[in-house]
Order: sequence, then C-alpha cells, then structure tokens
Amino acid sequence: MKTNLPESFIPDKAFLFKGVPVYFTDRGSGPAVVFLHGFLENKEIWNDFAEALASTNRVLCIDLPGHGKTGCLSYVHSMELMAEAVYLIVKKLRIKRCKLVGHSMGGYVALAFAEANPEIVTGLCLFHSTARADTEPKKTDRNRAIQVVKKSPSLFIKEVIPNLFYTTKQKPLKRLIAKTIAIALKTPKQGIIAALEGMKIRLERELIIRFAPYPVLFIIGKHDKIIPYEGLFEQAALPENSKTVVANCGHMGFYEAPEKTLAAVKEFVKE
Ligand code: MLT
Repeated sequence: MKTNLPESFIPDKAFLFKGVPVYFTDRGSGPAVVFLHGFLENKEIWNDFAEALASTNRVLCIDLPGHGKTGCLSYVHSMELMAEAVYLIVKKLRIKRCKLVGHSMGGYVALAFAEANPEIVTGLCLFHSTARADTEPKKTDRNRAIQVVKKSPSLFIKEVIPNLFYTTKQKPLKRLIAKTIAIALKTPKQGIIAALEGMKIRLERELIIRFAPYPVLFIIGKHDKIIPYEGLFEQAALPENSKTVVANCGHMGFYEAPEKTLAAVKEFVKE
C-alpha cells in the first residue's frame, strides 16, 4: 500500500498503564536498549540515536508519564511510578533483558527501574544524570518553579530551556534550542508539575550504581549547569564496571555534542 509517510516513519505504539496509554516507538532487532528522555522532553529527542542503533539493536523510546503523547497519572509522578510505566512496556513486549539510557530525569527513572528490576538490566547509562537526591536548596528551587509553572508554563519553559545549553549563540544551536522549546511547550502543565514534584522527592540511589552487576556509563557535560560535573566523578568511581565520557557541552549532549555522545552510547550498547 502506498502512503505519503516518509520511509523513516516509525509509528507510535502504546500500552495502557493505570488506564492511560503510554506511548513508545520500537525499532530494529537485537539486544534491547531503552531510551528515556528528560524533563520537558519527549521520545523524539532520541530519534537520531535510535536510527543509528536500530541496525544492531532493538531500540525502544518511551514518552514518560506527563510528557510527549503520554498523559498524566497523578499529581506527583514519582520516579518509581514512571519506572513502573517503563516496566509495563518491557514486560508486554516480553523483553527479558535490556540496557537503559536515561537523560537527566530519564536517568533518575532508569535508576528506579534498575532498583526494582535488577534481573532485567544489562547496563545503565546516566546521560547528564545523577544517582544523588535533590539537595535542600534544590528542593526550594523546585517549589519556586512549581509556583511559576502554575501561573505560566510557557514563561517557565522559555526561561529554563536556553539554560540547558552551553552556549545559546551558535547558529546551529539556536535551531535546536527552538526545537527543544517547541517540544517543551507541548508538555501539559500538570505533566511539568508532576515531574518537578517527583524529582523533588526522589531517593538517593548511589548504592544501585555501587553494586551494579552491569556496566555503568556516565556521560558528563563539562559545562552542564543542571548536573554539575564535579560531583559526578565521585559517583563514576563507585561501580566496578564504570566508564566516563566528558563532552564539551552543557546539559544537552545529544544535540550539542552528538558525535561524541553517540559514539559513547554505541560502544556501551555493543559491550
Ligand atoms: C532534566 O533535564 O531532566 C531535569 O532538568 C533534571 C533535574 O531538574 O534534576
């Protein structure tokens, strides 16, 4: 049958979780890799990585609750609740083992998943993410952010997104910042609040990486203003099988340093 869709078009699929469809894409075949996006993002941010890996791996990219096409489930989306949604997809697809790649909040969800399902996880990539909990000042910032979002989600988004990038001046990045803002503006107000509330109460999970029986990859942005790079080296020293890649970027390495970060993820997935 002829369609007008581009050849690379990957249809979204969904499974119901607590009555709400959780959307994802499923490409390629081979050992499974699950990609989890960060706060205010959606599964599309992984498109280039997923395309690049689909010739060797089965690649799932999931819209976490309250993001992308996946609706909200609760006032608070705890990392554990989001991880349950991920588990549902993995289970329904009968995937026995997988690697997880989580950007920032996606990394917090990956850690919660790894804690609950150690037998499934064969590798964990914390992509500009941390196993530490929010500090008290960070919690206060989250409360402030929630008040701003309640008044004006778009104001919040336009303030927050440029800050994720190392520089906002380079021309190619301007297009990516605009793209990131466009994705973020599609996030419903309740999705933003639920994620902020969830991140605020998330648990410290250093023990998960310390005793990880699988490889842990840290991708670190040298100029990341969200997850400062100093504290990450201490964490990267914890797992027995750990690798650290430092990219010359802010918090958005998949856009700011795509070659270096994709090469690191390819290597991790191959191991
Ligand atoms: C993210 O990019 O997912 C968030 O900014 C992480 C955070 O706020 O802790």
